[in-house]
Amino acid sequence: MARKKIIAGNWKMNMTPSEAVELVNTLKPLVANEEVDVVFCVPAIDIIPVVEAAKGSNIQVGAENMYFEEKGAFTGEISPNMLTDAGVKYVVLGHSERREYFAETSETVNKKMLKAFEHGITPIMCCGETLEQREQGVTMDFIRQQVKVGFLNVTADQAKTAVIAYEPIWAIGTGKTATTEQAEEVCKGIRECIVEIYDEATADAIRIQYGGSVNAKTAPELFAQPDIDGGLVGGASLKPDFGAIVNYNK
Ligand code: 13P
Repeated sequence: MARKKIIAGNWKMNMTPSEAVELVNTLKPLVANEEVDVVFCVPAIDIIPVVEAAKGSNIQVGAENMYFEEKGAFTGEISPNMLTDAGVKYVVLGHSERREYFAETSETVNKKMLKAFEHGITPIMCCGETLEQREQGVTMDFIRQQVKVGFLNVTADQAKTAVIAYEPIWAIGTGKTATTEQAEEVCKGIRECIVEIYDEATADAIRIQYGGSVNAKTAPELFAQPDIDGGLVGGASLKPDFGAIVNYNK
């Protein structure tokens, strides 16, 4: 069975609530492509206005992070219930920026993965190597560890619905997209890792995105690769360009 492509924007720390509504209104007509799942992952404060503005469109809304407890004394955190109640369907977990600046580890990512599934939120779990790791030749070892720890105690049925985003850190925000061959090689390696953890059926179902300086020019070739099921897009998701990326196959 062919996997449906999933193209998600990661707005990062951009867009005030009013700017967010304006951007959704601009992008709404541009991102209509029924062959693709389209997700806008937005800052927590933008979630409610974006869900409202996206009504009647094919845009689904995601969060950029989530805490792994239900409620309580965790100042500044957002719970899974808060997200689902606001209409969130996806959550980005373990983005390299969170790992680097906010002490996120594969262990905390794993806790969040389990919590997301418990609440019916689809995780977009990020992984990816640094330039140094790539040069040392340990890219796949590092990513396999991120994936294996991230998916600890996740059932095969849950894993089938998950999204993994391969984002080489050296390609994020640098304008330096990985080559199609580099991106496909790692996405294929991730799928093989899923076969090892689970089985062929799970690996066939799980969707693996590429992220890192994706733009309207690089998207068509990247998304045509057998193991690349779409993209996680940063900078270009804030511009009308995102419409061209979502319609990469038109
Ligand atoms: P850019 O597309 O801006 O390189 O960001 C990629 C990314 O980190 C998406 O999560």
